[in-house]
Amino acid sequence: MRIRGSVAWITGGSSGIGAALAHELCRRGARVAITARRAERLADVAASAPGEAHALPGDVREPAALEEVVAAVEANVGPIDLAVLNAGIWTQVDVRKWDSAIIREHIETNFMGMVHGLDAVLPRMLARRSGTIVGVASVAGYRGYTRAEAYGPSKAAEINLLESLRVDLGPLGVDVQLVNPGFVRTPLTEANDFPMPFMIEAPDAARRIADAIEKGKAEAVFPLPYRVGMKLVRVAPVRLYTAVSRRFVKAG
Ligand SMILES: NC(=O)c1ccc[n+]([C@@H]2O[C@H](COP(=O)([O-])OP(=O)(O)OC[C@H]3O[C@@H](n4cnc5c(N)ncnc54)[C@H](OP(=O)(O)O)[C@@H]3O)[C@@H](O)[C@H]2O)c1
Repeated sequence: MRIRGSVAWITGGSSGIGAALAHELCRRGARVAITARRAERLADVAASAPGEAHALPGDVREPAALEEVVAAVEANVGPIDLAVLNAGIWTQVDVRKWDSAIIREHIETNFMGMVHGLDAVLPRMLARRSGTIVGVASVAGYRGYTRAEAYGPSKAAEINLLESLRVDLGPLGVDVQLVNPGFVRTPLTEANDFPMPFMIEAPDAARRIADAIEKGKAEAVFPLPYRVGMKLVRVAPVRLYTAVSRRFVKAG
């Protein structure tokens, strides 16, 4: 799709990848609207953008709030050409202190947050028979990783949802793109106490996402070692996968 002149809406725009992408899309000539809960941070990101950016606070767990945000974007900025559903959280799970609340929180924010974004934009895109939906999931959705019992399933669900949508929405004029980053330095990864190989910076991730959008890539996995490595990880036999993964489990 052509970013220049488009109207883009990004969820999770107050920090990390979403904030960097808002600036990158502005730089490439899009008019951008960003949504997240922290209104002040959101306003700072919009104010420092190198182009037209609008801050519209909202919580992705609340469908009515997103409907209002999208209605306001379309009324004040223009019909949304590009929706980047990126808002997300990550907490490590300690299985010895099993707590379904952590799982629920991840499903409600990551997966249902994406679904609520779709609630708000999809009917409008379908009515226009045009638009691009970009979902930011994660390579963590490909297999079950250690301490990712809450985050991983929410990302696996996102990947699966976006693949189905790509099949069904294409003939109706709406494109679906999936972005699965490896490690990116953001507040989300700040507290991680394990090695994060091939980590990249948020502006770098944003450039790669913007390039993928412009090229119409169905699935963008980056950086390169993850693109290659994940192909192997995905086809690794279960026994081998489990044995190798256990080597990374921290002794408690
Ligand atoms: N960093 C990585 O290594 C990495 C790797 C793969 C995938 N990802 C994915 O990339 C996306 C962005 O992550 P990030 O690394 O940029 O993390 P981040 O810096 O923590 O940003 C997360 C964004 O999501 C927003 N958010 C969280 N809960 C929300 C809610 N209930 N309603 C609205 N917005 C909410 C946050 O804003 P507020 O707190 O202001 O609401 C923030 O803007 C996530 O989906 C994450 O899973 C990240």
